Amino acid sequence: MIQNFDSRNKDIKVWINGKLLHRDNAKVSVFDSVVQGGDAVWEGIRVYNGKIFCFDKHLNRLLESAKSIGFVDVPSITNIKNAVFSTLKANGMKNDTHIRLTLTRGKKITSGMNPKLNQFGTTLIVLAEWKPAIYQGKELSLVTSSIRRLSPLFLDSKIHHANLLNNILAKIDANNAGVDDAIMLDIDGFVAETNSTNIFMVKNDVVYTSLPKACLPGITRELVIDICKNNNIKLIEKDISISEFYNADEVFTTGTMGELARVILIDNRKIRNKGKILKSIKNHFKYLTQQEGDILTF
Ligand SMILES: Cc1ncc(COP(=O)(O)O)c(C=O)c1O
Repeated sequence: MIQNFDSRNKDIKVWINGKLLHRDNAKVSVFDSVVQGGDAVWEGIRVYNGKIFCFDKHLNRLLESAKSIGFVDVPSITNIKNAVFSTLKANGMKNDTHIRLTLTRGKKITSGMNPKLNQFGTTLIVLAEWKPAIYQGKELSLVTSSIRRLSPLFLDSKIHHANLLNNILAKIDANNAGVDDAIMLDIDGFVAETNSTNIFMVKNDVVYTSLPKACLPGITRELVIDICKNNNIKLIEKDISISEFYNADEVFTTGTMGELARVILIDNRKIRNKGKILKSIKNHFKYLTQQEGDILTF
């Protein structure tokens, strides 16, 4: 699955540290940490029905990630919210929008790894694009990647950082296998997540997902867990092996960019897909996206 260029995004304006710039002029310095070392944190956020969905949860994860990797001069939640509101207003975006919010450690006085070289404060980038859920109406095929998802022994997957090579290498495995995405195992061989989403399975009317040991604790994942709890759907977080996924009744992925997407094939094994639980969770999720969020007033 490859996304296409959406011509509505031809002339969008992008926020970079207080300035709204045409996409062709929206640039960061070659001395910025994100160029030098992928040294940034980020969030993908959606706008539905005139509202920014789960805005506070995303900002909280952004700031916790920034704290974990020792950023200083981090903008306040109010300033980040104003930057996002201004960007959406400048682009007239009130629905069908995906925001890529990035905070880098900022510009360095000279190239080098040391964060002590960062003496100008952080760089805030708000990139909002017209982008309906990318897996809408699609069913996914997956392959198990040879690349393991990082454990906290190496780099904690709870930090939502922009150094995405671990995931990109797995995505290359998916591309080489001609499928949509790749399943990444953890250091013990249990399923962690895919290169870009969390993953769930259903067996005998029970929903299962991996423990958040080597996966991003996704906000959509958390919503699905809450939906199950609030609707008497039994949910268990545990170590799950790939063969349990092969033999599941239903499998689906979750993420802001693609929402909830059914998986039909893993490593060439057809998933039974005989249940109705995903459909029911999807309906609850859709309801939430239409009801909840920070209201856009422009
Ligand atoms: C590796 C990975 N897993 C899962 C997710 C899904 O997280 P969320 O539901 O918060 O979008 C993302 C999203 O950025 C991700 O990068």
